[in-house]
Amino acid sequence: MSFNTVVVALFLAVPAFYLYHRITSSETTSASTSSMDSSKSDDEKPKTIMQPARIDLDPPKDDPFTVEQLKEFDGSNAEKPVYVAIKGTVFDVTRKRETYGQGGSYNIFAGKDASRALGMSSLKQEDAVSDYSTLSEGDMKTLNDWYSFFEKRYNILGRVIDLPPPAVSANL
Ligand code: HEM
Repeated sequence: MSFNTVVVALFLAVPAFYLYHRITSSETTSASTSSMDSSKSDDEKPKTIMQPARIDLDPPKDDPFTVEQLKEFDGSNAEKPVYVAIKGTVFDVTRKRETYGQGGSYNIFAGKDASRALGMSSLKQEDAVSDYSTLSEGDMKTLNDWYSFFEKRYNILGRVIDLPPPAVSANL
């Protein structure tokens, strides 16, 4: 395969994967309502490359985490578990260390609350912050879809208690 062929293939494959990813990740919304929609069998639900929801999750815990404590669980220490926070909720993603740990594609989300980046489908460092108050309606939906994706797949450990205040106050 020539270099040009590889470049063209990548040029086509990346947006295709990305669109597929967005579509399949929005499956989480239908999954969240599907408990009420018993007319759909599992076979009829959209096929996805994403890991399936789990039925073996622990009851959610409500332990307090500071932003500083959460940093310890960013995957840089192989002995420690890996945590991701979304909208202040801390999830244990240790069983996906290859994804969220050091060198993993989504390590940017580990050891912190990067809700804004999840909403924006961004892997940029500058977007990896907790403040999601200025997200567009569409990005807010994407963020909520991710929350419900994580909620169905990872154990909840608690909440981040000292996140910086949002730029836009809810009572404005
Ligand atoms: C070219 C772009 C992208 C491709 C090809 C891609 C591909 C994938 C694939 C194949 C998976 C499922 C496999 C796995 O579990 O690791 C996945 C999961 C995921 N992706 Fe992407 N993705 C892309 C962009 C993004 C972006 C921009 C974000 C930023 C929000 C993102 C966030 C995630 C998250 C949070 C998961 C869930 C991982 C889990 O906990 O199971 N992806 N992606």
